[in-house]
Amino acid sequence: MRIAMIGGGYVGLVSGACFAEFGSDVTVVEADPARLAALHAGRIPIYEPGLEQLVAANAQADRLAFTDDLQAALEGAEAVFIAVGTPTRRGDGHADLTYVHAAAEQVARALSGYAVIVTKSTVPVGTGRRIAEIVRHVRPGFDFDVASNPEFLREGSAIADFMHPDRVVIGTESERAREVLRRLYRPLYLIEAPIVFTGIETAELTKYAANAFLAMKVTFINEIADLCEKVGADVHDIARGIGLDGRIGRKFLHAGPGFGGSCFPKDTLALMRIAQDFGAPARLVEAVVAVNDSRKAGMATRVIAACGGSVRGKTIAVLGLTFKPETDDMRDAPSVPIVARLVEDGATVRAFDPEGMDQAVKLLPPDVAYCQNALEAAAGADALVLITEWNEFRALAPERLASAMRGRVIVDLRNVYDPGPMRAAGFNYHCIGRPLTIS
Ligand SMILES: NC(=O)c1ccc[n+]([C@@H]2O[C@H](COP(=O)([O-])OP(=O)(O)OC[C@H]3O[C@@H](n4cnc5c(N)ncnc54)[C@H](O)[C@@H]3O)[C@@H](O)[C@H]2O)c1
Repeated sequence: MRIAMIGGGYVGLVSGACFAEFGSDVTVVEADPARLAALHAGRIPIYEPGLEQLVAANAQADRLAFTDDLQAALEGAEAVFIAVGTPTRRGDGHADLTYVHAAAEQVARALSGYAVIVTKSTVPVGTGRRIAEIVRHVRPGFDFDVASNPEFLREGSAIADFMHPDRVVIGTESERAREVLRRLYRPLYLIEAPIVFTGIETAELTKYAANAFLAMKVTFINEIADLCEKVGADVHDIARGIGLDGRIGRKFLHAGPGFGGSCFPKDTLALMRIAQDFGAPARLVEAVVAVNDSRKAGMATRVIAACGGSVRGKTIAVLGLTFKPETDDMRDAPSVPIVARLVEDGATVRAFDPEGMDQAVKLLPPDVAYCQNALEAAAGADALVLITEWNEFRALAPERLASAMRGRVIVDLRNVYDPGPMRAAGFNYHCIGRPLTIS
């Protein structure tokens, strides 16, 4: 089966490579010349564990190709996926559908035979129908179907998520489209991954509902962490105590600096706007957005308080910049407002992230010093702030940090360290929602 994937970003590249691995012939259409040149040269323009090998193997087997020639990519394709960005629209919080609509128009012009046009991008309710209108307008009478197939993969474990999904959601009203997509996803039938067939609006909304729910779980435990700090309780134990309840589940109950990334912030905001537009305000989601925004903005205050009320003239080591480990994605990362405020308040920031520094340079103040490793960042620092819980930071021995640093303040925004050894090494150790943190 031949398919085309429009957009060679996190979702398009991973989905394209995984469909190729399932045995389909996939052409990824990428408009950005630099990204396309990298892909042609065998380089992966994003960091995602295992992706380089998967892309190389499938390109070698002639099942995966990259181009900017949409017409050629659509030749004989039974399905064309739209996997372009849907960032927050400047000014109003709605999803910006400029790229999706442009892709739909380009597809409409380039189609040479029947195909299912599938949105993999996260798109507001009504987008599938709008795409159908666009295509009908450009190519009156042309035979095509639309479907919504939202993607649930997580950066950092995207390949495993795609290959072994909890479920696949497919929204379409056409039996022919259902048959094409059923065939494409057939390898997942063998591992009995549930496929949920729905209408288009339902599939579109399912994705927002899933992300909003998870964002709500994170925000819930963050607020419980704040309460723990007031009453002397331990959020780690509470997360375990509630998470073991099968009705609640253990995932997404890690207290931290607030959620970031390419999806939760923009998708909660977009859902809030969709709900308002349709006259069914999602008040819980509105609260999640507000609580998370103020949490991220307030994290630097915590660091400043841990440093005795001022960071002016102090050197702060920052470990981890990406919004989570195992990705180079810096979109809406909590590190951005934290580092900006520390620099604004007169600190010298020495930062290290295993994969995110190329992206970070574009988003952080220009005078941040980027280091080769964690200990180099810690060298001579008055305080150390851990923002992203990369595995390599977990293993840092307190004694080594103590001999590298000048000061003795550690602010662990992910609760990765054991407070006992940190204190034994002489550190003034602060974490989130656990006893003996700052109030
Ligand atoms: N990143 C994630 O973890 C994730 C997970 C699930 C869903 N999503 C959703 O998937 C969509 C894509 O996200 P992403 O993170 O992959 O975005 P991205 O910005 O990494 O990738 C989008 C790519 O599409 C390309 N592009 C845009 N218009 C094009 C066109 N007309 N023709 C060819 N290429 C074009 C861009 O150059 C870019 O490389 C978004 O709607 C997002 O919400 C993302």
